[in-house]
Amino acid sequence: MIVVVGGGTMGGGIAVSFALAGKEVRVVEHTPEIAEAANDRIRASLERAASKRDRADEIGEIGKLLSVDTEHPEPSTVELIIEALPEDQELKRSVLASIDAHYAGNTEVLLASNTSSLPIGELASALEAPDRFCGMHFFNPVPASQLVEIVVGEETSEETVEQARAYGTLLGLTPIVVKDSPGFASSRLGVALGLEAIRMVEDGVASAEDIDAAMMLGYKHPIGPLRLTDLVGVDVRLAIAEHLAAELGERFEPPQLMREMVSAGKLGKKSGEGFYVW
Ligand SMILES: NC(=O)c1ccc[n+]([C@@H]2O[C@H](COP(=O)([O-])OP(=O)(O)OC[C@H]3O[C@@H](n4cnc5c(N)ncnc54)[C@H](O)[C@@H]3O)[C@@H](O)[C@H]2O)c1
Repeated sequence: MIVVVGGGTMGGGIAVSFALAGKEVRVVEHTPEIAEAANDRIRASLERAASKRDRADEIGEIGKLLSVDTEHPEPSTVELIIEALPEDQELKRSVLASIDAHYAGNTEVLLASNTSSLPIGELASALEAPDRFCGMHFFNPVPASQLVEIVVGEETSEETVEQARAYGTLLGLTPIVVKDSPGFASSRLGVALGLEAIRMVEDGVASAEDIDAAMMLGYKHPIGPLRLTDLVGVDVRLAIAEHLAAELGERFEPPQLMREMVSAGKLGKKSGEGFYVW
């Protein structure tokens, strides 16, 4: 059985993907009310994902593989636990430590965190067996995504990396293996391109549409860096850039235009305006 701790945006998507791949999944939430709401959301998401795959007639069967509860299952029945809690280091460390204690008798179980920015090494220090721990950074919405970043901490064993890679492949994702470092591979490179595109708007080099077209038509990117910033949220990308600037240096320093847009509430698609009007 697969256990997903935290049944929000990411945990729900991860759970649906494993169920679609034929695995029994338990989602663990912290209160019965939240568990019930998560259960409704996850089942609605399963219906959408199964219909898109022309598997609507299997929804009943696949649904039987999914359960949402406030309790962990019997430890010996579990092969993989994925932590998908909010991005709060102290919360993650304390829940990981209690997971570690609950599964102490199962020396085969693999533990992974879906953190998008926290160092795997710091989360691992809350654990008795850091060799069986790694990052599995999924992308939203998970059932429609194609990539998983396997983040390798200093103490992560090779066997753990291989197992995590195999789970990614089982879900139909392409796994990439990345050293535990700020922004992993995807955020570091994606944000670097996004920041340069924003500096180009600031410098009046070209319009947002034309900068995006340069990447889409010239370099075959499926979406331009500015439209993508609007979809992710200008505020979300500002926070990532600030984190990367603190960790990797001033090349990730957010452009002034980005700060002004966030102050003015131009956050992208979610606020109706960013580099584009939505
Ligand atoms: N949202 C994204 O696009 C995205 C993409 C990649 C990675 N991530 C990462 O995934 C993780 C989860 O993000 P999210 O967007 O799904 O967050 P979310 O807020 O939607 O979900 C978090 C869930 O954890 C639950 N939770 C909180 N405390 C708990 C506890 N003690 N025990 C059990 N459950 C508890 C909450 O009730 C909530 O359902 C974060 O580390 C985030 O950085 C997010």
